[in-house]
Amino acid sequence: MRIVVITGATSGFGKLMVQSFLQEGDFVIATGRNLSNRQSIFSAERALFANRLLELDLDVTDHSQIQTIFNLLENQFSGIDILINNAGHGLFGPLENLKSEDIRHQMEVNFFGTVEVTKTLLPLLRAKKAKVFNFSSVFGFMGFPLTSLYCASKFAVEGFSESLRIELAPYGVQVCLIQPGGFETGFGQNLIWGADAETSLYGTQIKNYRSLHEMVSRKKAQDPMVVARGVLRLSQMKRIPMRKVFGRDGAFSYLIKTFLPEKIYFLIMEFILSKVFLAKKT
Ligand SMILES: NC(=O)c1ccc[n+]([C@@H]2O[C@H](COP(=O)([O-])OP(=O)(O)OC[C@H]3O[C@@H](n4cnc5c(N)ncnc54)[C@H](OP(=O)(O)O)[C@@H]3O)[C@@H](O)[C@H]2O)c1
Repeated sequence: MRIVVITGATSGFGKLMVQSFLQEGDFVIATGRNLSNRQSIFSAERALFANRLLELDLDVTDHSQIQTIFNLLENQFSGIDILINNAGHGLFGPLENLKSEDIRHQMEVNFFGTVEVTKTLLPLLRAKKAKVFNFSSVFGFMGFPLTSLYCASKFAVEGFSESLRIELAPYGVQVCLIQPGGFETGFGQNLIWGADAETSLYGTQIKNYRSLHEMVSRKKAQDPMVVARGVLRLSQMKRIPMRKVFGRDGAFSYLIKTFLPEKIYFLIMEFILSKVFLAKKT
């Protein structure tokens, strides 16, 4: 039976991946912040799969909690077959308005959290030639206005993962980037807007970004189960790809970013996005 560890499993993609891997017969270690006090989150899964589900507290910024998971995997399990670094949140807003502590926290969770969990578990990952899935985003290969720090955290995850894939290839560990477009998870509600649209110099952009985001969520919502099942399918492949893009918007973004000459790409993006974000709402 495969041992699967998922971070940020309390919501969104993480929770759906817990369900998908359990249904497939895997043993799932679902981890999340303060999970022991949030017993209702997995009550349905516990009722069905109690003997293959373990719920553990893990804030990915807390090194002692990461070490506890390592000790448990080493002493009570046969190691680990799949690690899914999914935990993350969004800090949006114009750079000028972001607080330094929020900027650092964005990197702590999305980037250093992924690094620390992977590094701590690495001896076990190596021992079983495990597969590692790191959640990036379309914003991991494409910069976008009002999301500079979120993009930076995901670009960092990309560089880390690409390097690690090659570094660990001789040891049989495979690393894969998951790059979703916009999906209906808790992400939108959980994201931190680091600026007030009423007082910020960038107020018009913020308002227009938010209404664009709401309109897309309402009219073009994408089912996050596609990503959860997609990661499950990838985990069953002998050789996993370096990256996998999910969603219509993801595929479109990937095409234009990859195939348009850079000069043209930035001309178009700057023109279109300044029109979209600066257009006055009537
Ligand atoms: N949804 C999208 O459109 C989208 C697109 C591209 C990439 N992504 C990425 O997908 C991943 C999952 O996000 P989601 O869309 O499923 O959003 P979500 O529903 O908000 O889930 C995020 C999860 O991360 C957890 N988390 C946040 N900070 C944490 C920390 N310090 N330690 C441990 N867990 C922490 C949250 O836990 P709490 O319940 O404790 O807050 C939650 O379980 C993220 O890395 C996100 O950047 C999402």
